[in-house]
Amino acid sequence: MLKRICLSLFSFYHFLMICPAQQKTIDQKVDSVMQLMTLEEKIGQMNQYNGDWDATGPITKDGEKQNQIKKGYVGAMLNVSGAGHTRALQEIAMQSRMKIPLLFGQDVIHGYRTIFPIPLAEAASWDMEAIQKSARIGALEAAAAGIHWTFAPMVDIARDPRWGRVMEGAGEDPFLGSLIAAARVKGFQGKGLGNTDAVMACAKHFAGYGAAVGGRDYNSVDMSLWQLHEIYLPPFKAAAAAGAATFMNAFNDLNGIPAAGNKYLQTDILKGRWDFKGFIVSDWGGVGEMINHGYAKNSEEAARLAVNAGCDMDMESRSYINHLANLVKAGKVGMQVIDESVSRILRKKFEMGLFDDPFRFSDTNREKEQWDNQANLVAAKEMAKKSIVLLKNDHLPGQSTPVLPIDRSVKKIALIGPLVKAKSENLGFWSFDWPDDENRIVSLWEGVQKKLGKGATMLYAQGCDITDTSRLGFAAAVATAMLADIVIVSVGERRDMTGEAKSRSDLHLPGVQEKLIQALQATGKPLVVMISAGRPLIFNWTAEHVPAILYTWWLGTKAGDAMADVLFGDYNPSGKLPMSFPLAEGQLPVYYNHFNTGRQAKDDNDRMYRSAYTDLSIYPAFPFGFGLSYTHFSYSDIQLSRSSIRPVDSLRASVTVTNNGKFDGKETVQLYIHDLFASVVRPVKELKGFKQVALKAGEKIRVEFMITAADLRFYNDQLQYIYEPGAFEVFIGTNSRDVLKTAFQLVE
Ligand code: GLC
Repeated sequence: MLKRICLSLFSFYHFLMICPAQQKTIDQKVDSVMQLMTLEEKIGQMNQYNGDWDATGPITKDGEKQNQIKKGYVGAMLNVSGAGHTRALQEIAMQSRMKIPLLFGQDVIHGYRTIFPIPLAEAASWDMEAIQKSARIGALEAAAAGIHWTFAPMVDIARDPRWGRVMEGAGEDPFLGSLIAAARVKGFQGKGLGNTDAVMACAKHFAGYGAAVGGRDYNSVDMSLWQLHEIYLPPFKAAAAAGAATFMNAFNDLNGIPAAGNKYLQTDILKGRWDFKGFIVSDWGGVGEMINHGYAKNSEEAARLAVNAGCDMDMESRSYINHLANLVKAGKVGMQVIDESVSRILRKKFEMGLFDDPFRFSDTNREKEQWDNQANLVAAKEMAKKSIVLLKNDHLPGQSTPVLPIDRSVKKIALIGPLVKAKSENLGFWSFDWPDDENRIVSLWEGVQKKLGKGATMLYAQGCDITDTSRLGFAAAVATAMLADIVIVSVGERRDMTGEAKSRSDLHLPGVQEKLIQALQATGKPLVVMISAGRPLIFNWTAEHVPAILYTWWLGTKAGDAMADVLFGDYNPSGKLPMSFPLAEGQLPVYYNHFNTGRQAKDDNDRMYRSAYTDLSIYPAFPFGFGLSYTHFSYSDIQLSRSSIRPVDSLRASVTVTNNGKFDGKETVQLYIHDLFASVVRPVKELKGFKQVALKAGEKIRVEFMITAADLRFYNDQLQYIYEPGAFEVFIGTNSRDVLKTAFQLVE
């Protein structure tokens, strides 16, 4: 037996060496490797272990990972990075009989060495080029550190900010979310797998995870297949179409079937209808958690259900490595099922060039080059500036100009609040801490200091903590404010308050921060509130009483520089909200693309016997697509090239956008449609296009969109993706509420 295996092994490598001329296809190479593998070695490729670093889920105790690597019983690791660390483990893998290289995966969600704004903040930029570049840089830095595979982009549509993972995605809209999903996949994979600066993308969490009941992480999801296809699947489809190398399934059950064991999702839709050629990894322990779901009686059944549903790799639950061999021998799992999964995994390893050179990503020289890449920091600052959303900017009584931007001639500026001097808080969730962060991360205080130099006096008071209820610092804060010409208040969340396993029932500014704002507002000093958070928060008093509000999310390594550029007008804020901001938790879920219902309230005076709360406005605090500018953009003269089109025609919709203000600025002009009557009800608005225009003060421009029948498609009750003739409204405007409207007919 051993002789036969050695001989065949020789012939395999002999085959690889002598055949380069014929450039055997990857599939042929995969087949050749598969033919030589034992069942246990094949199952080993389907097994992923966590490294020695922090886990992102419950750790299963098993100290002999390296022995299993040596036996060829591990296909991939996660939370292992560094050229040296990955090389060391890869060397162990090369001691295995088949010498199949390991894959190293990591959650490089918004940067690796250089941290970019959180993905929800980047989504507020609506700038696909910038978003793609952010992912590109994350890949560049991660690949230089030995990482082959990032568990990103997270593309879950999210309508409920009680769910902490909204920070990780692109918000509530399928159109915007799909564009961003594709941009991130292309950014991570760059010029294609096989380049040593390209990492495999991983579209996650497949699927429906963002619709967890009550916004409670890991909770059940129950929705119609119609809503699944109409709202939650489009970004995944876009990621697959963009060439995502892998998918990750989800912790949640969907309509009673846990995603890890969901054949409809993984095999029927992804691998079947979408013809996905990559592989699917479970989310941490998700295969084993099907026992907790009550879907699998034990780990063996969990392994059988998951692999037969199309889950190719088991992250950290050990269900596959412990049970698949017996299941195959017992005829409960077909060998072809194993071969299908293993071939998908091996194909990616070939595509990554790891069979040619298992150490090609573990290059300490390249790691050093990327370690302090100044161009990456410049890009991070640019992305951060574009992510900031101006929510309010009023004049003070008797003032001719609004509070922002702050004039550089200001003499005394007070910066007050628990986040003024924060450093690593700016990195947000899913980021990495490095020993030199104190020097690399720019706080708000430092950003303003650099901006003003010696020209102005900066005063500081913490005022309060982020979550603590003590008001002992208020007096000093008020006294500090009284000495200043203008007061900047920096409040929000700690970076660990929004993210995985961070669902919250109370979305108000934590602690006594809004009380601090009230105390400072009472001084009568011009006030600017900057809110740094990973999700939409509720701050109604502030929104009503404070003249200027910037939503600064978590902006990453160059946070302070970006905030200072915006505060002093060196960058005119252009961000637009990718999620609706609620007035109250009781209003959730609130989103713009809702149905009209049979009793839609026209406004807040029309709530009797309407689909409305008697004790709350029908509107969110800030609607999807909302974001102001230091200048003012007006919209006029909306036109359509025709009043009706046939399916073969295209329709030009246009509007004039004028910069009426004193500042040059960038505006994201948004186009929505409403299908007035159809075989299933349609949302009152659906984003179908947007264009970013840069206008100098006083300039105007004609902005045009082309609409075709394809843009009007939706899933009917048979799940056919179709358009239907009928009446449509077209809206073009500065957000999903403030729009101009016109109409057209789609005729047979
Ligand atoms: C976590 C997350 C998933 C992440 C994985 C590996 O639990 O749900 O998004 O990629 O584990 O860290």
